Amino acid sequence: MNKHAGAAQWDPSPNNLEPFWMGFTPNRAFKKKPRLIARAKDMHYYDMTGRPVLDATAGLWCSNAGHCRDRIVEAIQKQAGELDFAPTFQFGHPKVFELSSRLANLAPGDLNYAFFCNSGSEAADTALKIALAYHRAKGQASRTRLIGRERGYHGVNFGGISVGGMVANRKFFGTMLAGVDHLPHTYNRAEQAFTKGEPTWGAHLADELERLVALHDASTIAAVIVEPMAGSTGVLPPPVGYLKKLREICDKHGILLIFDEVITGFGRLGYPFAAERFGVIPDMITFAKGVTSGAIPMGGVMARQHIYDAFMSGPDHMIELFHGYTYSGHPIAAAAGVATLEVYKEEGLFERALKLEDKWADAAMTLKGKPHVADIRTMGLVAAIDLNSIDGSPGKRGYDAMEKGFHDFGIMLRITGDTIALSPPLIIKEEQIGEIFEDKLPKLLAAI
Ligand SMILES: Cc1ncc(COP(=O)(O)O)c(C=O)c1O
Repeated sequence: MNKHAGAAQWDPSPNNLEPFWMGFTPNRAFKKKPRLIARAKDMHYYDMTGRPVLDATAGLWCSNAGHCRDRIVEAIQKQAGELDFAPTFQFGHPKVFELSSRLANLAPGDLNYAFFCNSGSEAADTALKIALAYHRAKGQASRTRLIGRERGYHGVNFGGISVGGMVANRKFFGTMLAGVDHLPHTYNRAEQAFTKGEPTWGAHLADELERLVALHDASTIAAVIVEPMAGSTGVLPPPVGYLKKLREICDKHGILLIFDEVITGFGRLGYPFAAERFGVIPDMITFAKGVTSGAIPMGGVMARQHIYDAFMSGPDHMIELFHGYTYSGHPIAAAAGVATLEVYKEEGLFERALKLEDKWADAAMTLKGKPHVADIRTMGLVAAIDLNSIDGSPGKRGYDAMEKGFHDFGIMLRITGDTIALSPPLIIKEEQIGEIFEDKLPKLLAAI
């Protein structure tokens, strides 16, 4: 389809679906039968005909406050009219300082500093770069090795895919970063199937870090990065005690611990950050998504006092960290962030997620025994349903669930392979939990 070959072969209409190359999407299937969304409000999307679709995924784990919330929309509109852009290299603007202070108050322990970027992927790479530069600033430049985890997801940039452990996200992209190793993932169906919350089996897997230290020597290792609860790989809550053990081993060997909280931050697990829920303070936390309830791109890294302090030396006029993005702390994103945090606080949405957790988990577990269901895991306002794969066609049943969910059952689902992941906005009503687990999903499971 060469667009210069003549209009007969190339549809020049502005609504032609062809030119948009969609990420993480089978383009040909989508364009044959598109799932187009025209607008959204609170718990619902609406398709082009005005048909409501219940959002069981907060968009893409983002819209924790629900959609098109007046306060966030107004903050964005006001900021766009007042200060559309200002650099945060060598200059600043009030909203980004206000948001930083609020995030520092929200984060546990002495995670007192916010470094901004525009996405979760950039946040992961930013945290990894800060870890390397930190050790160099401390006179330990040999600490260059980064450790991730199998089945981890830290976005799609080179740092993130290197420490990440989702095979399809890695195998096409060459050698990635050198000097990376991985912990084993923590999922074992035989030991953990149908667990609500943290499984009791698996804390010993943190000891694998000792093995990696013995192999590489602590003096070569800069940081360990994990999601406190792995999300994109299909929701793997951490085993009881696992994260505390990781913290202890990192402390013992002078290794930095980074929690990727791009999904788990901002109330998803009933707390501002999962670090608080698990009683473990990492050296850095990455965030994105929920910081603006998905209304505008923003990501960032919270860093502890000792991390920031390590850079604050040298002549006053010298830049301390040679990193940043043109849109780091963009005024409109910062305004959206401040408004979003106000909504979370005033509506008590994090507490709400915690209060609903048992009801949510119980409702999800009622799907045990329904057609194709192999395992169910829950934590906070998150649930994953593993479906048995169709023989010879892995991923097809999951795809069908998502596709039919949208077109036939009015529900937006997230899938990874044959796993359905649910993570609704935190404003979900109890009757909507019923709608998902008692009505839409049982019917859908019978139809795929
Ligand atoms: C834990 C984690 N880290 C990083 C990312 C990447 O975020 P983004 O898509 O905003 O780059 C995601 C996205 O789902 C994520 O779940």
